[in-house]
Amino acid sequence: MQLQVEVSLGSRSYRVLIGPGVLKMLPELARQNALGSSYAMISDTNVAPLYSKTLNDTLKNDGFRGTVITVPAGETSKSLQQVENVCQQMVEARLDRGSFVIALGGGVIGDLAGFVAAIYQRGIPCVQAPTTIVAQVDSAIGGKTGVNLLAGKNLVGAFHQPSFVVADTETLRTLPEREFNEGFAEIIKHAIIRDREMFESLEKIERETLEHLIARNVKIKAQIVSSDERETSGERAILNFGHTIGHAIENAAGYGRYLHGEAISLGIAAASTISMRAAGLSAAERERIVERLQQFGLPTKLDASVSMEAIMKALLSDKKFVDGNVRFVLCPKIGEAFVSSDVTLEMIREAIDGLRHRHL
Ligand code: NAD
Ligand code: GLY
Repeated sequence: MQLQVEVSLGSRSYRVLIGPGVLKMLPELARQNALGSSYAMISDTNVAPLYSKTLNDTLKNDGFRGTVITVPAGETSKSLQQVENVCQQMVEARLDRGSFVIALGGGVIGDLAGFVAAIYQRGIPCVQAPTTIVAQVDSAIGGKTGVNLLAGKNLVGAFHQPSFVVADTETLRTLPEREFNEGFAEIIKHAIIRDREMFESLEKIERETLEHLIARNVKIKAQIVSSDERETSGERAILNFGHTIGHAIENAAGYGRYLHGEAISLGIAAASTISMRAAGLSAAERERIVERLQQFGLPTKLDASVSMEAIMKALLSDKKFVDGNVRFVLCPKIGEAFVSSDVTLEMIREAIDGLRHRHL
């Protein structure tokens, strides 16, 4: 079944198509959106061999001209070096201001290719073609693009909304189990901040009807992005639940040790502990959150090799710190969240310590 969600942003509004086989609609949608006739398809070394040839052939048979640019799979490709490398290849392929970018891959490719589109020749359109659960429910929607610096994640970037999103659920069939499961960290996050009923329903997942679960998550993200596109009112900031500590752990552990969703799982467990102290979350609800994460094989206990100093160093480079104060997302009960300025570094340090010592 094919589902559709609209991201309402005035003149920058766009459609997210979700379902098996929607990648095939990309050429027709590119025409409908007047995207021009040449493209750079940016993908990674795992995804390109699986999906780029068919999509490239479909586009070429439809009269488009383009090139496929492949970067190494993994978080380390979210770098300024890769931005330069990709832009250089686009120049060599004679792509100009009338061209568009196709981001074919997971969140790494969506963030890298989206950023390249935001800055190439001062900005060209981007189509997001997400192939992981993380990307289909989260990163392909909302226009946040960017790369990492040594100091921390996503420290260089731009808001650049896609022209449309094609979330082909067929592609999820080739996701390895670990990468499939990590996507549930973002789904559990959406449930915790906005959708208690979905939290309950996650007890049983039917792979055959995954498109409904993905569309439900896209709707949550679309609503939040539509009301606070640039994270200025505080509403979009609730999407960062579990991310302040999660990003710091991801960076401190060294990219590759934890998948993004795994680091976010640890961040969610820690943010839930802080929510007990600072927002009145009950111990029973925190326990349910931890159990839900574990149900998808996600970590809730921090590896002893990741040092507290490295985590705290990464944490202090986070964009969510303003003048040394963190805007921390808290959950008073499953289904609700708010941004607080009352969370101290000491509370964060204690919660991280708890991830290591307590048997979760
Ligand atoms: P990823 O892009 O690294 O993909 C995970 C792994 O799966 C990679 O090895 C990739 O090659 C492989 N893969 C992707 N699709 C596949 C498929 N269909 N079949 C087989 N293998 C496939 O990581 P991710 O988890 O998708 O995304 C994480 C990234 O997204 C992080 O950098 C995170 O910061 C970013 N993110 C951004 C936002 C945003 O709003 N921009 C939101 C959430 C996450
Ligand atoms: N992933 C957080 C956001 O898009 O705002």
